[in-house]
Amino acid sequence: MKTIGIIGAMPSELADIRNVLCNAVVKTYAGYDFYVCTYGDKLIVSACCGIAKVNAALCAQVMIDKFDIDAIINTGVAGGMNTKVKVCDIVVSDAVCPHDLELRFLENYPPYHSMYEADEKLVNAVCQVCAEKNIVNHVGRIVSGEAFVSDSKLKQDICDRLSPLAVDMETAAVGQCAYRNNIPFVSVRCISDNADDEGEMSFDEFEKIAAKKVAEIVLETVKKI
Ligand code: ADE
Repeated sequence: MKTIGIIGAMPSELADIRNVLCNAVVKTYAGYDFYVCTYGDKLIVSACCGIAKVNAALCAQVMIDKFDIDAIINTGVAGGMNTKVKVCDIVVSDAVCPHDLELRFLENYPPYHSMYEADEKLVNAVCQVCAEKNIVNHVGRIVSGEAFVSDSKLKQDICDRLSPLAVDMETAAVGQCAYRNNIPFVSVRCISDNADDEGEMSFDEFEKIAAKKVAEIVLETVKKI
């Protein structure tokens, strides 16, 4: 039986997944609660990692160490970083990196790697689910940093340097952790705001709707992988 790890940052980003996986057994390691549950022919281990990259990397590594994980899906909401990406669209990562660290520090020193690629089969499975459900999705770069981006100048700076489709606070860390452990990875995010000066207002309005939408896509994707 394949075991799929699902990591979300905030309880709201996992709520709709947990509602479906209601018979889960909870195992706690390093302070993280891992919900373990069968779903069709898969075992799902889901965890709420908390906000930002340290939490995400820790939780992903503990999940990998404690469970026999075959693939990791990082899910939740994100800020849109390209005019073609609208609020409530889905962004699927093809590559992920941090935006708040000069990439040369990662490239010139261990781990000599800064951009982590998502698994093509996982990306295609998400896109297939979106196509079947007629949901607009975009495949591209997702970048992460230790800030909620709600400032047009910061947004522009990140866009100029990295040309991402979406920004969040965890994807790059989960992607790096999965890569280092040789585990297929994808991040699937629903856009809750445009990471601009109205970002926080939009986030408050759309976060729950976006989280629900992406949860449905992630659960459908699990069935296909
Ligand atoms: N998650 C959702 N929106 C975000 C934003 N604008 N910046 C960082 N993380 C986010």
